[in-house]
Amino acid sequence: MAPDIFELSAPEGNALVGHLLDLGRDPLGFLTACDRNYGEIIPLRLGLTSACLLTNPDDIERVLKDRECFIKSRGFRALKTLLGEGLLTSEGDSWLRQRRLSQPVFHQKRIADYGTIMVDYTERAIASWQDGEVRDIHAEMMRLTLSIVMKAIFNQNVTEGEAQNVAHALDVAMNWFESKRQQGFLIWEWFPRPENLRYRDAIQKMDETIYSIIKQRRESQEDSGDLLSMLMEARDENDGSQMSDKQLRDEIATLMLAGHETTANALSWTWMLLAQHPQVRQQLHQELEDTLQGRSPTVADLPNLRYAEQIIKESMRLYPPVSLLGREAVRDCEIGGYQVPAGCVTLISQWVMHRNPKYFDNPEQFLPSRWADSIEKQLPAGVYIPFGDGPRICIGKGFAMMEAVLLLAAIAQRFELNLLSDYPIIPQASITLRPEHGIKVEVRSLGV
Ligand code: HEM
Repeated sequence: MAPDIFELSAPEGNALVGHLLDLGRDPLGFLTACDRNYGEIIPLRLGLTSACLLTNPDDIERVLKDRECFIKSRGFRALKTLLGEGLLTSEGDSWLRQRRLSQPVFHQKRIADYGTIMVDYTERAIASWQDGEVRDIHAEMMRLTLSIVMKAIFNQNVTEGEAQNVAHALDVAMNWFESKRQQGFLIWEWFPRPENLRYRDAIQKMDETIYSIIKQRRESQEDSGDLLSMLMEARDENDGSQMSDKQLRDEIATLMLAGHETTANALSWTWMLLAQHPQVRQQLHQELEDTLQGRSPTVADLPNLRYAEQIIKESMRLYPPVSLLGREAVRDCEIGGYQVPAGCVTLISQWVMHRNPKYFDNPEQFLPSRWADSIEKQLPAGVYIPFGDGPRICIGKGFAMMEAVLLLAAIAQRFELNLLSDYPIIPQASITLRPEHGIKVEVRSLGV
């Protein structure tokens, strides 16, 4: 019989709560220290829950690929109060059916049409930017990516008020989850504290908005060519069934949440890194000048915007928009030759893996050109995983990469963003890795 993972060496934890406080206080620093000072499986205790950090790529792949044995962890399942049984939070047959129905909607050819929306919305957003003014680029990116994903989902059917309802609900929900995470998920959602009431109220308003849009669409029977129409039309090839209103609501809420904050974070960290590395920025400007010569970028330009793509990949290596994945073992199993008991939560940290000196030269340095060679093919699977891996890999990966490169190109072509010297930029590892106080920049027009 294989030895138990709890025989492996680990940092000392608090007698009462184990490593919960270390993880809550400074998740990135704590997990990095675990990796650098211990083996490739580090047993941890989070309150009453046993857990372990995995840093061996083979073990990571094993867990991400085996969705029967490893399901989303408890903390993550708490998102169900917001997202119901959408793709991100569901499991088993219900997830498989929804994934099969949704997969074709994200086919590269279909999403290419959204390139025009992405660039149009960006150009509209930056039209009001003035030379010399200060902006919070994270807030700007959040607004922009939310408006893009809403347009992609609903096309023309959303009024300003409806869009604000949804944006507000997502914002309240994310803040609620962050406060829950900081307090170790101790504030029960049903307890009538003001933040819980605000949370429930926000969800109710969002639901009213989404259901009313679905109802209008069903009544008009119009095909708007958007994600909602495609999801409504999708038929299960086995039994011909389609999504119910509740399933549509859950998928839409999921796509809005999963489809905007992650991309906004990727871009926000990219602007920070570009401001800190003027030579990289210069090389990007050169590529944009050569490829676009002042005109707006399109999907057809993507194959020629190679350096822009390398910048996004390198930015997501150093600042992965999702920095931690958790999977709970549903039964006793073995990982890397050790026994893992049912209920144990395996932690996989993109932050730890992407900065791991075993796999990357100069891991702390921002070097986009490292992606020019075939490094991706040489890296073991399970090392560079900004979009996760296995059957539950991000369904919006193609959409997100297209969006990140197009927005980067459309903005960098016209503006240079410089950091304010005294403004603190602090990565906060919540559900996503966001800058805790935003990122303040001074906007400099390039006169293009
Ligand atoms: C840079 C941007 C993005 C990053 C880094 C990212 C990252 C991820 C990761 C790591 C997962 C896997 C989570 C896990 O295994 O527990 C995931 C899943 C998912 N993402 Fe993304 N994502 C991004 C953009 C998007 C976009 C634009 C959409 C939709 C428009 C989207 C929709 C989803 C959905 C629906 C899932 C759940 C898939 C499933 O379990 O079947 N994401 N994403």
